Amino acid sequence: PTPIPIFFILTLLSVLSSSSPSPTSSSGGDTDLATLLAFKAQLADPLRVLAGSIPPELGRLHRLKYLRLSGNSLSSIMPTALGNLTRLEFLGLDLNQLSGQIPPELLLHMHNLRKINLFGNDLSGQISPYLFNNTPSLSYISFGNNSLSGPIPHTIASLPMLQVLNLQVNQLSGLVPQALYNMSRLQIFALAANGNLSGIFPTNQSFSLPMLQFFSLFRNSFTGRFPSGLASCQYLKVISLSRNSFVDAVPTWLAKLSHLEKLSLGFNSLVGSIPATLGNLTSLAALELSNGNLEGEIPQELGLMQKLSYLHLGYNQFTGSIPGTFEKLKSLASLDLSFNNLSGSIPKFLANFTYLTILNLSFNKLEGQIPEGGVFSNLTVQSLIGNAGLCGAPRLRFSPCLDRSPSTAIHLPLFLLPTLILAVVAIAICVYLWLKKKIKKEGYNASLNPTSVIGHEIISYRELIHATNNFSEHNILGSGSFGKVYKGLLSSGLVVAIKVLDMQLEQAIQSFDIECRVLRMTRHRNLIKVLNTCSTHDFRALVLEYMPNGSLETLLHYSQSTQHLGFLERLGIMLDVSMAIEYLHHDHYELILHCDLKPSNVLFDEEMTAHVADFGIARLLLEDNSMVSVSMP
Ligand SMILES: *[C@@H]1O[C@H](CO)[C@@H](O)[C@H](O)[C@H]1NC(C)=O
Ligand SMILES: *[C@@H]1O[C@H](CO)[C@@H](O)[C@H](O)[C@H]1NC(C)=O
Ligand SMILES: *[C@@H]1O[C@H](CO)[C@@H](O)[C@H](O)[C@H]1NC(C)=O
Ligand SMILES: *[C@@H]1O[C@H](CO)[C@@H](O)[C@H](O)[C@H]1NC(C)=O
Ligand SMILES: *[C@@H]1O[C@H](CO)[C@@H](O)[C@H](O)[C@H]1NC(C)=O
Ligand SMILES: *[C@@H]1O[C@H](CO)[C@@H](O)[C@H](O)[C@H]1NC(C)=O
Ligand SMILES: *[C@@H]1O[C@H](CO)[C@@H](O)[C@H](O)[C@H]1NC(C)=O
Ligand SMILES: *[C@@H]1O[C@H](CO)[C@@H](O)[C@H](O)[C@H]1NC(C)=O
Ligand SMILES: *[C@@H]1O[C@H](CO)[C@@H](O)[C@H](O)[C@H]1NC(C)=O
Ligand SMILES: *[C@@H]1O[C@H](CO)[C@@H](O)[C@H](O)[C@H]1NC(C)=O
Repeated sequence: PTPIPIFFILTLLSVLSSSSPSPTSSSGGDTDLATLLAFKAQLADPLRVLAGSIPPELGRLHRLKYLRLSGNSLSSIMPTALGNLTRLEFLGLDLNQLSGQIPPELLLHMHNLRKINLFGNDLSGQISPYLFNNTPSLSYISFGNNSLSGPIPHTIASLPMLQVLNLQVNQLSGLVPQALYNMSRLQIFALAANGNLSGIFPTNQSFSLPMLQFFSLFRNSFTGRFPSGLASCQYLKVISLSRNSFVDAVPTWLAKLSHLEKLSLGFNSLVGSIPATLGNLTSLAALELSNGNLEGEIPQELGLMQKLSYLHLGYNQFTGSIPGTFEKLKSLASLDLSFNNLSGSIPKFLANFTYLTILNLSFNKLEGQIPEGGVFSNLTVQSLIGNAGLCGAPRLRFSPCLDRSPSTAIHLPLFLLPTLILAVVAIAICVYLWLKKKIKKEGYNASLNPTSVIGHEIISYRELIHATNNFSEHNILGSGSFGKVYKGLLSSGLVVAIKVLDMQLEQAIQSFDIECRVLRMTRHRNLIKVLNTCSTHDFRALVLEYMPNGSLETLLHYSQSTQHLGFLERLGIMLDVSMAIEYLHHDHYELILHCDLKPSNVLFDEEMTAHVADFGIARLLLEDNSMVSVSMP
């Protein structure tokens, strides 16, 4: 940092003095301007930042029209000598470290001043009410980002050319003069972040800022209703009234402001809900209504604001779901809906928004699957916390999603109870009917079973040949390691299964013996019955009950039939099989181990009653539990 070299100012002074003497000469003015623009460019060199105080000698540049020393490190107070620059049109001392009060007489003789910029210094004290007494051409005032205090002088309102008034980020206080709302050229009205500014807005008729584009009063102490006079400011682009104490609904007149790009009303006492007509603001890029106590649903119409990139609606009492029309808000970069009562699921399309980097949905009643990809791949748990129904996103330690559809999840318990009761009652009735039927059937079987008619007649080999069509291939029901099983039609008209053993195998003969022995000893509804045997020197066959409905294995794995094996059917089969096994194990003087219980050995009769078959490798245990091995292991 270097101080402003005095010789430089003196050189400049001589240059300016030697130029055209006529103050009205436009060519002379241009020369001044050109020289000073060069001066400005040199001073703006970031490697040669000017420091120290502004030398009072600058005040000797009587004909200076343009002075810009912005963005340096100039400190100390503003010299009153600057007030001698009576021809000055532009004064730019912004972004320095100037301190102290703005000299009350600084602008007293600057009749031609059009712009003054003192933004971003450490200026303090009050703004003198006389400061603007003789500056009728002033169109630009920026005193923002300083430490100015006291009231806003009402004399500002009498500057007929004023277009820009920036007094924000100071400590100004008191009432904003009502006359400020009656300025025909004002475009920028920035009084935000002073903290203690307040005041009453004029009525619609007295509120006249026809050229207004930017209206910012945020972080102050305004009360009452929003200034409805703004409705007539048709060029408005920015309205920022957040962080005051307004008590009002979101005004419907806002919908008239078709150029609006930014609207911020949050941190006030908002009442009611968002008017659907707000969707008419199709130029809006930022909408902030946080902390407002708003209720109702978020209107679908907000989806019409297709330029929206910033939408903050947190800390209200919005209900309903996130509108599906938000799918059109593809420019969204920041979306905050935290602390509401929003329900439903998180829309998947949010993961597709390429600009979306800030998302906060915490503390709602959202549920269901957290979408994947896009903004969700970078999200922290802070953005989704407080939604008990959310699932998925294992990275954020939410519980995994169940298969059922998320929207029914919460309703499930409501109808689960009656359904359960109904199911239990239904099962009870079915079991009762089934048992009744079984008892009836057993009675019937005992007396009229056609198989019992056969008795124990010896059956001839010839009859078997006849029954099986000479053991035709077409009659084969199945084959096992010990032989083949044929379907046969006996001369009595009875259809039977004929198990013919392969006499080449020693084991087959043993198996025949065992099976004969077991089946001779047993008689149970759920065991296959041996009807007869045929045994010659080189042929042995068992004539068994024919089971027309195949085996359990076929039913489970190969059945093409439309017949559905439901819960009750399965239960019935299990009961049948277990009763057969219980009979073999306990209800018999010899304990019989089947040793080969599998679905292919469970066969069904025409009523789908299960029968356990194939005792070829069964074992018999005597009562003293010493095993009699009657078969190979
Ligand atoms: C400013 O002008 C006043 C008189 O108008 C004079 O007394 C004073 O010295 C001048 N200051 C400078 C720095 O030229
Ligand atoms: C002006 O003040 C605001 C609020 O303190 C701050 O955010 C902003 O950065 C400041 N601007 C400059 C240029 O210092
Ligand atoms: C506002 O005024 C109150 C009391 O007058 C004062 O305590 C407070 O510091 C002021 N706030 C600001 C930001 O000036
Ligand atoms: C608004 O300002 C004009 C002059 O610019 C003045 O004639 C008029 O009376 C003012 N209106 C109010 C309500 O102060
Ligand atoms: C002021 O204007 C707004 C918007 O046009 C309107 O809603 C309101 O009723 C008006 N107020 C009065 C007092 O005329
Ligand atoms: C806003 O849009 C609705 C249709 O959505 C229309 O009926 C209404 O006239 C519009 N209002 C304004 C002020 O443009
Ligand atoms: C929002 O949810 C909270 C907590 O569940 C409840 O106290 C409040 O009444 C709800 N508000 C609305 C408007 O439903
Ligand atoms: C997201 O984008 C992908 C590919 O661009 C598309 O297939 C998918 O349907 C989009 N999802 C949603 C919810 O819009
Ligand atoms: C996630 O974060 C990484 C690094 O912070 C960044 O490069 C990437 O673009 C982000 N992805 C999304 C979808 O925001
Ligand atoms: C989301 O909002 C909640 C509540 O204000 C806050 O606790 C949390 O830190 C926010 N999350 C992010 C990622 O900003």
